[in-house]
Amino acid sequence: MKKQLLSMKSLLLNIFNGRIVSPWLILLIDLVIVINAYILAYIVRLNVLLSSYSASNIILSSLWVVFVFLIAFLISGSFKGVIRHSNYSEFKLMAITCLGAFIFLLAANQIIIKYDLAWIRVSRLVLMLHFFLSIILTIGFRMIVKEMYIFLTKKQTSHNVLIYGAGDMGQITMEAIKNDKDNHYNVVGFIDDKASKWNIMLHSCPVMSWKKALEINEDKQVHSVILAIKKISVQKKHEITKDCLDKGWKLKVMPSVGNWVNGISNEKQIRDIRIEDILGRDEIQLNLGRIMMGLDGKVILVTGAAGSIGSEIVRQLLRFSIQKIIMVDIAESALYDLQQELLLSHSDAPFEVVLADVTNKKRLNDIFEEYKPEIVFNAAAYKHVPLMEAYPYEAIRVNIGGAKVLADLAVRHKVEKFVMISTDKAVNPTNVMGTSKRICEIYIQALSQRQDINTAFITTRFGNVLGSNGSVVPLFKKQIEQGGPLTVTHKDITRYFMTIPEACQLVLEAGFMGEGGEIFLFDMGEPVKIVNLATEMIRLSGLKVDEDIKIKYTGLRPGEKLYEELLASKENTLPTHHKKIMIGKVRKHDHKKVNKQIEEMMLALQIENPKLLVTRMKALVPEYKSQNSEFAELDKQFESSAS
Ligand SMILES: NC(=O)c1ccc[n+]([C@@H]2O[C@H](COP(=O)([O-])OP(=O)(O)OC[C@H]3O[C@@H](n4cnc5c(N)ncnc54)[C@H](O)[C@@H]3O)[C@@H](O)[C@H]2O)c1
Repeated sequence: MKKQLLSMKSLLLNIFNGRIVSPWLILLIDLVIVINAYILAYIVRLNVLLSSYSASNIILSSLWVVFVFLIAFLISGSFKGVIRHSNYSEFKLMAITCLGAFIFLLAANQIIIKYDLAWIRVSRLVLMLHFFLSIILTIGFRMIVKEMYIFLTKKQTSHNVLIYGAGDMGQITMEAIKNDKDNHYNVVGFIDDKASKWNIMLHSCPVMSWKKALEINEDKQVHSVILAIKKISVQKKHEITKDCLDKGWKLKVMPSVGNWVNGISNEKQIRDIRIEDILGRDEIQLNLGRIMMGLDGKVILVTGAAGSIGSEIVRQLLRFSIQKIIMVDIAESALYDLQQELLLSHSDAPFEVVLADVTNKKRLNDIFEEYKPEIVFNAAAYKHVPLMEAYPYEAIRVNIGGAKVLADLAVRHKVEKFVMISTDKAVNPTNVMGTSKRICEIYIQALSQRQDINTAFITTRFGNVLGSNGSVVPLFKKQIEQGGPLTVTHKDITRYFMTIPEACQLVLEAGFMGEGGEIFLFDMGEPVKIVNLATEMIRLSGLKVDEDIKIKYTGLRPGEKLYEELLASKENTLPTHHKKIMIGKVRKHDHKKVNKQIEEMMLALQIENPKLLVTRMKALVPEYKSQNSEFAELDKQFESSAS
């Protein structure tokens, strides 16, 4: 018996599999349903009124009714959808179509009476009964096919899941799961924080509180929880993640509509929760009006456009009504990838890709002349601390040299605004990279003191962003994929983190906040212990720390700090209207003096060794104290010559 059932199931599956029934066949089935509904309506009516009608009258009038319904179906196209994926809007369309045909038949009855066309006249009661039966049967037919399809295609291996959110997103998620032919999930319940929803049934599943869900026994074999809530605080996400990890459940996320790949809601949109989801912070409220006004109709040049920060700035800028974005980068492949991404996502956006080196003054001058940018975002830089420690020449040439070329050209070409991307590593720097960025800040600030310039120079300073090129999150992800170990340089090392979009939103906000000359600092929240980040990422991958994957301490790298500071001790801050952005009050520098020092440093690049170059950096930034680095001995020389 079981064997027969199985072969029946596979036969039906073969019928369903991959085939889409012709719409004309669906139309035929709908018409057959309409005829049967008509006959049924007559049977019901005859029983009620005990009167009789001639067979020819029934046949002729049924042809008339079917004809009207046929026209209604053809006009509305209600037969064109894929039956097994029918949803609420298709049911609604069918109901409206039947209603339209019914109203027409009622109205036509008046004319039929007037011209005495008794052979197609249908009593109102029959029409009414027929209308209801047609709706019930046509929609019922679709529901039966849909449920049969879900039953037949449901994988034996599908996992029991709970959907967190019994609102719109929860329902969309349920539909997406039901409609997916590879159906991997079996929804066993909904969770909602609103007490008014508890204990009701949704799609035949109970709605419960999170507390109740956590009491679910192991024999229910819950595998995952799918978060399907439009707005949820990071704190709440964190709590749910922790509870899930404790219960041994996986946590997944149904992204909000705007983030669906290809804009389609299906099961494949459901993804595992990422560390960025729980480390990020609540959505930033931007002063859109001010940013919109500042960017409206402008030509904007973004350097380092192919990098993590630059590319996100470009994506954010494309949301506004700008005239053009010029994307400059030296990394050919990365720039090409960005171009391809934008051609897909923003095909009609006004952007230009320019392969160029920001340290090349002649080339950059040509670019300024050709495109005449009004706003410049400088995100081109070398940022890896150990590499810059090994090659101070490059840190000076690219970071300082590039920023100087760009800033000087901005002045020469009367650019309105120049936004410099800096880093928290520039604060009381302990390495070459951070110091090179501090020198950029100093130069830009000094330049902005000049009375004879039209450009407003803004510096934005923030800590690590999650998931940027070569940062800790992609590294840990790779190490987890390879089975570990996860390498942490020190058990106490902490870092501030922001998501890339969050940081870039604040860059935009700060860019249109200042008068010029300010250093804007972003509130980075609480510092995160890197070892905790590693632990959390291992647990999120469903693995156990030490049992499945080990964490290995490798020792601090040259120039690396245990704790990153956001503000230099000699600086203090002023609040702005945005609670996450502060203005750093910094010492003023004389442009002439700084310009001379930097120009000499640039010339020295051709003749001096790394130690002499770093000595020049230390002279410009007296608070720079090398840590864990071969250049630490220079500090001793400085101290002894000072005493
Ligand atoms: N990633 C972070 O966590 C973070 C945090 C705070 C500040 N920042 C700062 O933001 C800036 C950008 O960082 P990112 O994470 O986007 O780095 P990234 O390496 O992803 O991007 C830098 C981009 O600059 C380009 N570039 C380098 N030299 C160039 C040159 N001579 N001419 C043209 N383009 C050149 C690179 O090709 C690269 O695409 C850096 O100054 C960094 O210090 C980064």
